[in-house]
Amino acid sequence: MNPALRRDYLAALKLEAWLVRGSIAAPLSAVPVPVAVPVPPAERVPAAVPIANGGREEGADWPELRARVAACTRCALSSTRTQTVFGVGSLQAQWLIVGEAPGAEEDRQGEPFVGRAGQLLNSMLRAIGLSREEVFIANVLKCRPPGNRDPTATEAAECLPYLEQQIALLKPKIMLAVGRIAAQNLLRTDVTLGRLRQQVHHFGVSKVPLIATYHPAYLLRTPTDKRKAWEDLKFAREVCARV
Ligand code: URA
Repeated sequence: MNPALRRDYLAALKLEAWLVRGSIAAPLSAVPVPVAVPVPPAERVPAAVPIANGGREEGADWPELRARVAACTRCALSSTRTQTVFGVGSLQAQWLIVGEAPGAEEDRQGEPFVGRAGQLLNSMLRAIGLSREEVFIANVLKCRPPGNRDPTATEAAECLPYLEQQIALLKPKIMLAVGRIAAQNLLRTDVTLGRLRQQVHHFGVSKVPLIATYHPAYLLRTPTDKRKAWEDLKFAREVCARV
């Protein structure tokens, strides 16, 4: 990417260029690309296991799947939602971004990541040269949990077959799980996000490479971690270029 353009993107992320201590700004090409840190065996993430009711939506094409999601009453969230939030983006996308669940604004508009966190997600994508329109964005849950509470294990298990079928149809080159809840549900682990980031995981039977990073809502609350998120994004971009 053109260095000036990249600087603009970093500015959009509110990340200044790295400085060599007591010196001039380091060229962005000199920013080290993070490498996967070996994790001690006891902390390794278990291999992704097939989801118990995986395959439940197998065979559904995009319109059929969208209709099934819109009509879903598998869990109690169907009685509190305004509408389902299927996902948005290119059906030819190489990148699949997966968040946790719709919030209030997403529930109102029927589109994922449209609030303040969504603005930051768009900036994060732009920072690695991607537009919102060329990726696909979805959530682990298609309905908003009341009060934005965490999804329950049952809700996630009931809803995941929809995401699995979205993945089967999309065949993304790479998945980016944003936030602990998305990463832990997709990888079926309770390992902390801190330990899951900066490693290449694989999702499901198709073994799509999956990178975990911070949720943009968390980054809005903790801007000091934006730098780590930037490292994760570069790492994901590098992994995507390799597959
Ligand atoms: N947070 C998420 O995880 N997903 C959304 O769609 C919006 C906010």
